[in-house]
Amino acid sequence: MTNPKRGIYPGSFDPITLGHLDIIRRATRVVDHLIIGVAANDGKNPVFSVEERVALVEADIATLDTPATIEVIAFDGLLVSLAEENSASLIIRGLRAVSDFEYEFQMVGMNSRLNPDVETVFLMASDRHQFISSRFVKEICRLGGDVSQFVSENVSQTLKAHYENS
Ligand code: PNS
Repeated sequence: MTNPKRGIYPGSFDPITLGHLDIIRRATRVVDHLIIGVAANDGKNPVFSVEERVALVEADIATLDTPATIEVIAFDGLLVSLAEENSASLIIRGLRAVSDFEYEFQMVGMNSRLNPDVETVFLMASDRHQFISSRFVKEICRLGGDVSQFVSENVSQTLKAHYENS
């Protein structure tokens, strides 16, 4: 293949949801090789360690049948540096309702100043996944609700076990 297109789908994935999986599936139609960048994001006090989040992402993507190859990488630095180190020319982000726009708008602006050669592409979340957020999934599970329609069975069980033991 000449000049295969490499893209990065970055996020906290704390934990990965069916919304993320939908974007991953669709992103593999846009690039030849997709790097899922799991940000350590210690400042956000994630529930799961970066190693646990990578393992959850890897388990979920194993269920996908995609046209592109996928790799999962934990990262701790700048997103544009991850793109440069991995020869990726695209950053892929999922966009839900209007509320995501302001944050994403700023991030694109800053990242494109840091490296104008890396383009950000947005994929709209599909109807069924518009409202899913990792933050609310965690809250629902912590308060004893059923999250099985928002995350995979593996993530649901892992979350339940986490809150039962904490
Ligand atoms: O899933 P999230 O929490 O919305 O993902 C945010 C993420 C990981 C994409 C963002 O925090 C990020 O890019 N972090 C890496 C550090 C960085 O490059 N910061 C400058 C952004 S302009």
